[in-house]
Amino acid sequence: MTRTHTCGELTRTHVGHTVTLMGWVHGRRDHGGVLFIDVRDRYGVTQLVFDVEKEASIHSQANDLRNEYVIAATGQVRIRPEESLNPQLATGEMEIEVSTLTVLNQSKTPPFLIEDDVDATESIRLKYRYLDLRRPRMQQLLQLRHDVTYHVRQHLHQRGFLEVETPILTKSTPEGARDYLVPSRVNPGEFFALPQSPQLFKQILMVGGTDRYFQIARCFRDEDLRLDRQPEFTQIDIEMSFVQQDDILALGEELIATVCKEAAGITLPTPFPRLTYQEALDRYGTDKPDRRFDLELRNLNEVARHVEFKVFRNTVESGGLVGGLVVKGGGQITRNQIDRLIDVAKGFGAKGLAWVKITEGWKLDSAIAKFLKAEPFQHALPDAEPGDLMLFIADKPAVTYDVLGRLRLHLGEELKLVDRERWEPLWITDFPLLEYDEGERRYVALHHPFTGPCAEDLPQLETNPLDVRAQAYDMVLNGFEIGGGSIRIYQREVQQKMFDLLGITKDAAQEKFGFLLDALDYGAPPHGGIAFGLDRLLMLLGKTESIRDVIPFPKTQKAQCMMTEAPSAVSQAQLKDLRIKLDLDL
Ligand code: AMO
Ligand code: AMP
Repeated sequence: MTRTHTCGELTRTHVGHTVTLMGWVHGRRDHGGVLFIDVRDRYGVTQLVFDVEKEASIHSQANDLRNEYVIAATGQVRIRPEESLNPQLATGEMEIEVSTLTVLNQSKTPPFLIEDDVDATESIRLKYRYLDLRRPRMQQLLQLRHDVTYHVRQHLHQRGFLEVETPILTKSTPEGARDYLVPSRVNPGEFFALPQSPQLFKQILMVGGTDRYFQIARCFRDEDLRLDRQPEFTQIDIEMSFVQQDDILALGEELIATVCKEAAGITLPTPFPRLTYQEALDRYGTDKPDRRFDLELRNLNEVARHVEFKVFRNTVESGGLVGGLVVKGGGQITRNQIDRLIDVAKGFGAKGLAWVKITEGWKLDSAIAKFLKAEPFQHALPDAEPGDLMLFIADKPAVTYDVLGRLRLHLGEELKLVDRERWEPLWITDFPLLEYDEGERRYVALHHPFTGPCAEDLPQLETNPLDVRAQAYDMVLNGFEIGGGSIRIYQREVQQKMFDLLGITKDAAQEKFGFLLDALDYGAPPHGGIAFGLDRLLMLLGKTESIRDVIPFPKTQKAQCMMTEAPSAVSQAQLKDLRIKLDLDL
């Protein structure tokens, strides 16, 4: 018996044809004497009919079918009677009057029903991922993943890019997260690291003359997981020679816009707006702003400098930032709700949250109103008006930005300001090259140590390193960082200067990335690139809340695979082969 059609294929044109379908029993309805069985595969669902009056033996066979049995059914296609037409289904006008039924395999009762609004917990879904994947929604997300990578390959192929694989067993590259290590049996006591990204290899490929590289690359990072992070994830990784920042932004933008259109039918507004890192912080408090709603941050230092309220004045005097949000119509918000907002702000790390309601005639209503005058605020916030609520954070700039940025997102959700139909991509540029790590008491690279400084800032590298901008950029979509890259350092002296600044000694640099430094000595071309987070992009295009939904076999928050139960203990013999002894107290 061979399958002639899928379960999502039959239409009126097939009426009268004899067909054979194969798939899973999706459900049954017994109309006393007439049994309807839905059979499902990846393509859809088709209704089978078994009539006791016509074929008693087949009817009784069908009666024994249970959910998720695998069957083959042969019969004639016919139009359903008027009352059982189902316009919701692609195949909803058709049914098959079955003449031969074969059970190809049986199934235990599944732990959850295979349907889109599944009620099982996520851990059950992950344990029985093969059942979860049968759900139409999951099939749709797998299809989306396939379509996106297909269009990425096509787009880059047409532009002369070569897809090149780089090693999975490799040397650790410093990307900022902890490495996954793999012990080497042949070289006892030595370890490979799984790549956090193909960063150094793609740069080496440029030295190797590849000119235009891409890879759908698996990356591994042992870091704390969040809703948009997985320990094992996939990048659309790109590197180009003889280019400048604008070339890479143009290519990246065209790629993502094309893929969104082709794979998901989503039109991104082009050209993508560009904000500098500082502008993004000033307006949204974050370098990955969600611009599907306004509610921008306000810098109120000039007003706060002169008020009586000590918290504000002292903050400005000590080099801090008093920032605010103007919530339109927020005068309606009750004291209880404001108290909850204060707790939310404290949860984000604020010392407090000052609030002021603007009432009729631009009067101020607040516990701290007696320390403030309305006029300077009215002047500084020309769009604020009676009926609005002002919220203020006074703290070190980094804290003020962070808390207000997160409060902005919180209010965006709570007050339903986010327009879910909108797509807001943008580029963030002009990141600082370095930041100061208070814990380690040294400069660290904001992106990675191979990122090139802006040429015009080079003279300041020794005098004001924190003011030096990097030739680095991120792509942000609806508040998620979906890509990031940079123009690289390609001259050995500059790379050496960078390592010096980062406090990486010559010996340490040679030991860790000697191969890259050596390569820079042999005619490295100017180059740069970018990597997009495929899973994050899919999460947005697939409109799902969890990155795990777009990864066929994801890990949990605790970095475990529920299905295989990895990671797991290994035998003493395996450990012995690797000369590993597990005796450290945890
Ligand atoms: P970066 O570390 O910014 O850059 O990573 C690039 C993109 O990968 C995605 N991403 C992740 N997605 C899911 N889970 C994670 N744990 C995770 N970490 C990162 C993000 C991010 O924007 N080699 C450089 C790129 C370059 O310079 O060309 C790099 O890896 O969407
Ligand atoms: P206090 O003087 O600490 O009682 O605070 C008076 C008001 O200012 C309260 O509403 C606090 O929530 C608020 N407040 C305190 N510290 C800050 C701060 N760093 N930023 C903004 N508001 C604050």
